[in-house]
Formats: sequence, structure tokens, C-alpha cells
Amino acid sequence: MTYAAITGWGKCMPPAVLSNADLSTFLETSDEWITSRTGMRERRVSHVGAIELSTVATRRALACAGLEAKDIDLIIYGGVSNDELVPNSASGVQRAIGATHAASIDLNTACTSFCYGLATATAMIRTGMIKRAVVIGVELISRYMDWSDRNVAVLFGDGAAAVVLEASDHEEGMLGSVLGCDIGGRESLRVRGFGCTYAGRDVRFGDTLWDFDGQVIFKRAVQAMAGASVRVLQEAGLSPDDVDLVVPHQANLRIIESVAKYAGVPMDKVMVTVQKYGNMSAATVPVALVEALEEGRVKPGANLLIPAFGGGLTYCSLLVRWGQRVTPLGDSDAELPPCTETALELVNRVRATQDPHGVSRAGLMAPQFVESWATAPL
Ligand code: ACO
Repeated sequence: MTYAAITGWGKCMPPAVLSNADLSTFLETSDEWITSRTGMRERRVSHVGAIELSTVATRRALACAGLEAKDIDLIIYGGVSNDELVPNSASGVQRAIGATHAASIDLNTACTSFCYGLATATAMIRTGMIKRAVVIGVELISRYMDWSDRNVAVLFGDGAAAVVLEASDHEEGMLGSVLGCDIGGRESLRVRGFGCTYAGRDVRFGDTLWDFDGQVIFKRAVQAMAGASVRVLQEAGLSPDDVDLVVPHQANLRIIESVAKYAGVPMDKVMVTVQKYGNMSAATVPVALVEALEEGRVKPGANLLIPAFGGGLTYCSLLVRWGQRVTPLGDSDAELPPCTETALELVNRVRATQDPHGVSRAGLMAPQFVESWATAPL
């Protein structure tokens, strides 16, 4: 039997930190509101593009696995944030690292993109299609956040991380998965302004309007992640006591606490990063995984439970059995270029291009978009 071991891991966090106090300089919000409702204290804002973040994370993951880029058969770029749509982003990473023999796929299931990428690459390795893959989770939400909307602007951050998977005879890597999509929640999260629907409508890229029903997402997310976690454990013949560490999607501390409670796992077995990075969508799970390894919280042979949800509303819970090695084989010297602006300056630069009452916003508010998305005529 062939398995897909995780043999390399690396993250790339942009250095500029945006605090709750920074957000209060241009939004009617407060540190007290944000921390009590979400657990978030700060998040990162990137000064470079998403391919560059991903490239540094991937170089670190490859060094950790002791592999060279030419050894890789497949790169999966998981996330919503693309520097451009054509050519795709995975090929940008492929070129930057020199992975001359790889295939490159962009995969977008919103916040679950890394997890779905892990499931896809694992299946391809286990069926013998490929031997080695890189799976990236990355997001650069600061570039298209609606910075005038306090309901969403306080929640998100930028970041990237990557893992390397290799074919193995040992029973390790992703051993179980429940993947699904709660279609009834599809309308609760939409970023207006992306996609062909908006062509010819005076909508500028980067000007967005978020349809975001936080309370609906909250309830459906807890239900979906907890249900999937119970099922993936049952299918593997494991109980919650067999879980050594939960590495959940980090959208809100209260969501994480509820999922842990319903799944029957105490919070001291849950990896939490939401306080320092906010919700990095597809990057949250891999960054939390890398930090769990850096902090020595992943022991050899550990059972990891990875529940996540995202726009769609896609959801999943993965069961990963860690291998024997929990330390890197090597280090990479890959670094981002220095950042010369503060996070607030970076955000203010994006804000200066967004006009909450301008033509672009009027295009996004057009009645045909608001009333009927499926049939909106041009
Ligand atoms: N600062 C101050 N007040 C705010 C802010 C803010 N940043 N944002 C909203 N409010 C106000 C609203 O205007 C509203 O005021 P009103 O009652 O006068 O109308 C009130 O606070 C809203 O309060 P609640 O709805 O009770 O807030 P809640 O406890 O539900 O928390 C939150 C809101 C944090 C959005 C929560 O619902 C949540 O986390 N939902 C899920 C979020 C989520 O899933 N995010 C990820 C989506 S993408 C992904 O990861 C899949």
C-alpha cells in the first residue's frame, strides 16, 4: 500500500503587523469589540505578491524535506488570491523555484483550499499518478478587502505556508477525509467584484463589496466542521481521545472552541493562531501546522484532526497521522525583501484607491446583482 507522507513544511509570514488599534484609526471599531467577538489582536499585511509569499514558503518546505525543486511532480496552489488568473499562480511558483518537471494547479475552494489540495495530492500519490507534491495555502486578502466595511475588514490577514508530500510505504500522512459543501449557505458569503460577472460594469478590480452574514456562517461552520470531524474519526475507528492535536481553520476563536467541544477534544489539544494572524483563509491551516511543528506540539506518530470551512460553504475534516520525523532536514536562506512601510501605510495605500461612494461601488450595487445573481444579464 502506498501512503503520502508529509516530509517538508515551511511558512512565510509578511512582517508588517496591523493591530486592532490600527484598524480603529479608520473604522468605527475597538480592540475590545474585536478581541471579545473573534479572539483576534493583530494580523499581517503583505508588501509583496501572493506568488512571492508562496515561493518563500515553498523553498523553506523543500529544504525541510531535503528535496530540490526538480524532484517535484506537482504543485497545488490553494487559495482565492491570485496575482493574475492567466497564467495561473502555481506556474508562477513553479517558475520561481525551478520545478522543471512539475504540473501546476490552482485550486480554489476558499478557506478550505489548502485542505482540499492536501486531499487531492494525497489521492494522486496513493494511486501512483505522482510521487512528490508541494501543496500551498496562501492568501493576500489585504489587496481586495473592502476596508470601509468593519463587518469584514477586522477579520482577515495575509500569509502563506506549504507542505511537501512524498510516496511512502509507512502508514502515515492523510489517512481519512470527509469533504463536503453546505450549499444552503452559499449566499452567506460572497465577494462582489471578482469574476466575469462584473466585466463591463464600471467595476474596478480591488473594489469589492462583501455579502457576509457572520451569524449564519458561524452556525453552519460549527455544524459542518464538528459533524465532519465526528464522521472522519468514526470511519477511522478512532475516538476523540485518540486525537493528539486539532489544527483547525482559524476564522474565530469562538468557532474553534465550539468545534472542539462538539468533537469532544479539550482546548489544550487545539492549535490556535487566530489571535496573532486573524483569518488567513486558505493559509490558516498550513501556517498553524507549521507553527505546531516549530513549537514541538506535533509528536512522532501523532494523530492530527484538521477541520476547516470556507465560502461555498465548503467544509472538511482531515485525519493525518504524522511520521517519525518532526524536525527539518535542512534550512533555506529564502527571505522576503525588506518591508519599508508599516501595515497601516500599506492598507491606507489600498484604501486610497477604493472609493466607497464612487462609480465602482455603484456598479457593485446595481439592482440586477442584488436581486438575481444566477440570471443577471449583462
Ligand atoms: N466593530 C464594532 N462593531 C461591529 C464590528 C466591528 N468591527 N463589526 C460589526 N459590528 C457591529 C455590527 O454593526 C452589529 O451592530 P448592531 O447590532 O447595532 O447592528 C453588531 O456589531 C454585530 O454583532 P453580532 O452580530 O452579535 O456579532 P457576532 O457576535 O455574531 O460576531 C462575527 C460577528 C465576528 C462576524 C461572527 O459572527 C463571526 O465570526 N462569524 C463567522 C465569521 C466567519 O466565518 N468568518 C470567515 C468567513 S470566510 C471563511 O473563513 C470561510
